[in-house]
Amino acid sequence: MADESNEQLVNFTLDGVEMTAQKGELIIAAAERAGTYIPRFCYHPRMAPVGVCRMCLVEVVGPRGATLSPSCFLTVTEGMEVITKSEKVKKAQDGVLELLLTNHPLDCPVCDKGGECPLQDQTLAYGPGESRFVEEKRHFEKPIPISELVLLDRERCIQCSRCTRFADEVAGEALIDFAGRGERVEVATFPGEPFSSYFSGNTVQICPVGALTAKPYRFAARPWDLDQVESTCTTCSVGCKVAVQSSGNRLTRLVGLDADPVNHGWLCDKGRFGFEGVNGDDGDVRVTQPLIRQGDKLIPTTWSEALATAAAGIASAIRVGGAESISVIGGAQMTNEGAYAWTKLAKSVIGTDSVDAQLGDGISPELIFSLPGATIDEAARARVVINLAGDIRETLPVLHLRLRKAVRDGGTRLIEVGNIATSLTSLSSASIVVTPGSEADSVAELFKKGGSDGVKAARKVLADYKDGEGVVVLVGRGSLASDAAGVERAAMTLADALPKAKFLFALRRANVRGALEMGMSPGLLPGRVSLEEGRTFFTKNWSTVPENKGRTSAQTLSALAAGSGVGALIVLGADPVSDFPDSELARTALKQAAFSVVVGGHHSETLSFADVVFPAAIAHERSGTTMNLEGRITKVAQKLVPPPEVWSDVAIAVELAIELGAELDLSDTQEAFAEIAALAPSIAEIGAEKVGALSGLDGVVLGHGEVAPTPLDPMAFPGLTSADHLGSAAFSGAVANVATETDFDLSERPEPGAGIVRPIALPESPQPGSLLLVTQRSLYDNGALVSASPSLARLVEVADARLHPQTLSEIGAGDGARVRIQSAKGSATFIAKSDESVDLRAVVVDFNRPSVDGVANGAGRLIDASGAHTPVRVEVVA
Ligand code: SF4
Ligand code: SF4
Ligand code: FES
Repeated sequence: MADESNEQLVNFTLDGVEMTAQKGELIIAAAERAGTYIPRFCYHPRMAPVGVCRMCLVEVVGPRGATLSPSCFLTVTEGMEVITKSEKVKKAQDGVLELLLTNHPLDCPVCDKGGECPLQDQTLAYGPGESRFVEEKRHFEKPIPISELVLLDRERCIQCSRCTRFADEVAGEALIDFAGRGERVEVATFPGEPFSSYFSGNTVQICPVGALTAKPYRFAARPWDLDQVESTCTTCSVGCKVAVQSSGNRLTRLVGLDADPVNHGWLCDKGRFGFEGVNGDDGDVRVTQPLIRQGDKLIPTTWSEALATAAAGIASAIRVGGAESISVIGGAQMTNEGAYAWTKLAKSVIGTDSVDAQLGDGISPELIFSLPGATIDEAARARVVINLAGDIRETLPVLHLRLRKAVRDGGTRLIEVGNIATSLTSLSSASIVVTPGSEADSVAELFKKGGSDGVKAARKVLADYKDGEGVVVLVGRGSLASDAAGVERAAMTLADALPKAKFLFALRRANVRGALEMGMSPGLLPGRVSLEEGRTFFTKNWSTVPENKGRTSAQTLSALAAGSGVGALIVLGADPVSDFPDSELARTALKQAAFSVVVGGHHSETLSFADVVFPAAIAHERSGTTMNLEGRITKVAQKLVPPPEVWSDVAIAVELAIELGAELDLSDTQEAFAEIAALAPSIAEIGAEKVGALSGLDGVVLGHGEVAPTPLDPMAFPGLTSADHLGSAAFSGAVANVATETDFDLSERPEPGAGIVRPIALPESPQPGSLLLVTQRSLYDNGALVSASPSLARLVEVADARLHPQTLSEIGAGDGARVRIQSAKGSATFIAKSDESVDLRAVVVDFNRPSVDGVANGAGRLIDASGAHTPVRVEVVA
């Protein structure tokens, strides 16, 4: 039998040396793998080759002798002979560079790319030395802004088409293209349409010259002034790999690194340009000193006074209401080490289980830890992806890029079930728009007979994957105006009907997964151990754990607002007023808190209600580890020395514990991780040394590949069984009744886009304008990081109210009319926008963006967290 792996290899010679390449591998890539660098401009390993610059010419020997061929465009074939170094190749390289420089301005001394420019470097290494061209070069007005973030110096462009291909092929936003002919050819936007892509910074990074520059970096530094560390972006939970660059203890730039399993080198603009909010140029942006309340003012104080005041407030609350009266909310922006230290402080030293890293917009940890997890790669290789998480371009942008590529180029079929169409709807095989709360019913319909056109189209896609093998389900909160029950029941229904399907949880905040893994949720202890299961073990190691299961963030805020049960509140790196779905509830709760401590890096409305504020180090000012949405643990590196009075989360927890009369025994980040690896079973399962070393840029994923979980060692974890199926019993019991009767139709599967359906025709609303609110997040909102980053803050747009045209006509409004939306919580005014993808019974308003009547978080003003959904009335404003 032929060796299958050998069948995938082809033999060829490179500069006289025999070697092998993968079948279908390009010459330029095979040569690079073998250590031979072939110069290039237009070739990019993450995009389809176009062969337009000719810089990569090599000699390929064929029946008619050696001919010059672009090595980025030809794949290696059996017996091929490739010559990369010869007189002929050198002459070709000289000619190409001489031609490219004919019109290039050679303004290297004032060009941002100078010092790291492939055109400079390759001219030096492969160029002719001098040019025969003495004619006037072309001139353009320079630079011109093509968006709020990107500038274009047209005369520097060498027409490699990397930027235009990225925009079209990778981002799916063909907002730039070539215009003009001959020497007047230029990269251009369409008239009146800026290059307003969420991914525009990638074009700046891959431009091989200084034609595209990013406004936040332009003239900010020279490459040789920069110092860099490799780290992980912690703006969202994708966890893209980045090089963080600084000059003189100021961040200057973030550059995407190519992590094969995660980001493929791409970053979104929020992750790339959010560093401005770390520098905090405006004195009101960063919290740089401890603060304590005096009357209605927060005044700067010393650390010792702030710690003593916080400890006294907490101790007094415990005396009055017991340890269980203390609540801790937030923590998802911390490192794993910070999250562990605060969990230990709250659950062991203070003795409360009311700790919740999710802010009322998450998914139950029991479900997350019960369902078999998928990696990003598994989702990108899946035969079918079922998206229950809404528009991930707005929440997890680079995951959107990975899925888009999978659907566009990889043959992955996409089924969407949600409250609104998404950025991938046009590529989906079936898109089922459902009324909030009916997600599970719609999913169950996939496994019965009949149904809408969308359901039938989705059923056909699933016909070949009846057991769920090759299916990945993306689970997340598509709408913050409804509770999690709909989407959780839909996920459980799918888990039951497709037993081999895997699940990827689209949780948005950077380290929410790590925080849950560290026990930052009611009823949980570190390592996916329930309070009951881990009581003996953790009592032995921590000395004490809480008696009873505590409150979630939503329950804490509701109790505070009702004036009962919470004696003191600790907020960890969160801003519930702008981030908790029901912003009025959050505001009332914080106002009513008898005593509150806020640990944070940025000023916010939440902070203004605090009694004590601890200034904490934020991204790029701290080291440790983080965990992305897959459960992948990677390193975060410290690049900046934080302001003198700013401490790490671990240090703050340790010092507060001392002030409360206890020791956390965690002197630094390393010690914190060592304790996590020793005590948290889910981490210990993968081996402390692997996590501790984290030598590879890609990190390690809990429960995957070479680090798959092994049964717990009963000697190391007495009383604990596998940590892998926390809550599985509860989960099984809760699985919805799913009909087993199926009518899979094996006839022709639909083409992408064929199954898109109009909204389900529902009975007319009892009263025109009585609708359900659907609220999704958008990338640029009034959150702390965007607000603190001037380049991003100006991209926050006023929210509109999207309604189906039929709904609009029922309430007597037209596209562009001013409409007031009234809920039980409040009202706000928006401009109505007609959108056929919206359900007939819904109105869609983006979260944490201003309304036209000046409410900073228009949707947050409306959301009612006390109910399963948010009913509203929409009426035209006269
Ligand atoms: Fe290439 Fe840069 Fe010109 Fe775009 S602007 S075509 S990336 S040289
Ligand atoms: Fe950062 Fe998320 Fe953007 Fe990646 S997708 S660059 S992790 S914000
Ligand atoms: Fe091969 Fe441009 S790199 S033609």
